[in-house]
Amino acid sequence: MNPYTHIKKQDRQVYAALEGEEARQAEGLELIPSENYVSLAVREANFSILTNKYSEGYPGKRYYGGQKYTDIVENIARERAKKLFGAQYANVQTLGGANANIAMYFALLQPGDTVLGMDLSHGGHLTHGHPVTYLTKIFKFVRYKMKDADTGEIDYDEMRAVALREKPKIVLAGFSAYPRELDYAQFVSIARSVGAYAVMDIAHIAGLIAGHAVKNPFDYGFDIMTSTTHKTLRGPRGGLILTRESEELAKKIDRMVFPGLQGGPHMNNIAAKAVAFGEALKPSFKMYVKQILKNAKAMEGVFKAANIRLITGGTDNHLLLADVFGSMGITGKEAESVLDEVGITLNKNAIADDMRGPMDPSGIRFGTPAITTRGFKEKESARVAELMVETLHKRTDQKALKKIHVEVKSLCKRFPIPKSFA
Ligand SMILES: Cc1ncc(COP(=O)(O)O)c(C=O)c1O
Repeated sequence: MNPYTHIKKQDRQVYAALEGEEARQAEGLELIPSENYVSLAVREANFSILTNKYSEGYPGKRYYGGQKYTDIVENIARERAKKLFGAQYANVQTLGGANANIAMYFALLQPGDTVLGMDLSHGGHLTHGHPVTYLTKIFKFVRYKMKDADTGEIDYDEMRAVALREKPKIVLAGFSAYPRELDYAQFVSIARSVGAYAVMDIAHIAGLIAGHAVKNPFDYGFDIMTSTTHKTLRGPRGGLILTRESEELAKKIDRMVFPGLQGGPHMNNIAAKAVAFGEALKPSFKMYVKQILKNAKAMEGVFKAANIRLITGGTDNHLLLADVFGSMGITGKEAESVLDEVGITLNKNAIADDMRGPMDPSGIRFGTPAITTRGFKEKESARVAELMVETLHKRTDQKALKKIHVEVKSLCKRFPIPKSFA
């Protein structure tokens, strides 16, 4: 099926780019741990007629008329999100994960307040206080880190000491590049000891939490969770803010998202979130997330056998971080580029306290959500890891690289991107 018949007739330039991307996604292996393939049902909702509608406000309280169906769709999305994560309240209007975090900060903090978050080179996200973000001009960010990058253990004693000294208003858990489970009870205890909110940015592991493959921070007393909807959760690009039980907090968040920071919600996108959340409530979603973890473990085994250092020593979730510079003398940028040549997409990434710069760091980050959606099991995942190791070793041997690319393409052919998840 060609879903772009009208674009083809009307706009050849955009059509050509879309066709190119169709082929790139079909013929390459996607290992970026924050990417995935959505179902055609999610894509249909995302390009639906709801794109035409303005719906400023919330269900039952809109600024414009004609909201009979938008209210239905947004209520479905909110109810499903609440059910998936065990929340009392859900805001489904934020346009992405960064927007969700910004709205959460502005709802809970006053300018000058402090946030205690994970150090960026130890796995935290840009929105957790990187100096390049405008957030750091408004709030103060202080850090916690791993005690030991070879085990991944967080230094909770140091974290507690920083909290007592700095009196943060938010203790923020969550990460973009950390392959282990956090000790949620410690976070909540540290937050309570200084009267801070306990917030978890679950963007990366939202699907794993929804499918019960990892622990749910709400079970440990976290107040709020922010998220993206497009990574392991396998929905459209977007954000989500969940409140465990406080109506007062939920109201503050709703007011901050709209009218505080955003304008009219993208109702087409909210419909796509509703469809994706419906998929995540199905038993088959649990199988998918379990397989994500098994596939990551299979890749871990291959990297360990090849003596390539894995940050934290391995993985308990969907992602892995390998110190390719320390292990093989190849930079993250070089690794990303040569793997791209054989049809394997991943990203260069800083490792803990990286001595190299962010544009050419020591590590690579990769993960299994997208290949799992494609149907890969442990055997195929291990084979992908073997092909990665071989690519890195034979990076100057064009003949070997061509052969690996042929095998990557044939794996992709055997496991086409699925259209639906029954
Ligand atoms: C932990 C975390 N939070 C927030 C975000 C930002 O999400 P978005 O790109 O949708 O704004 C990301 C994206 O990578 C993330 O990993």
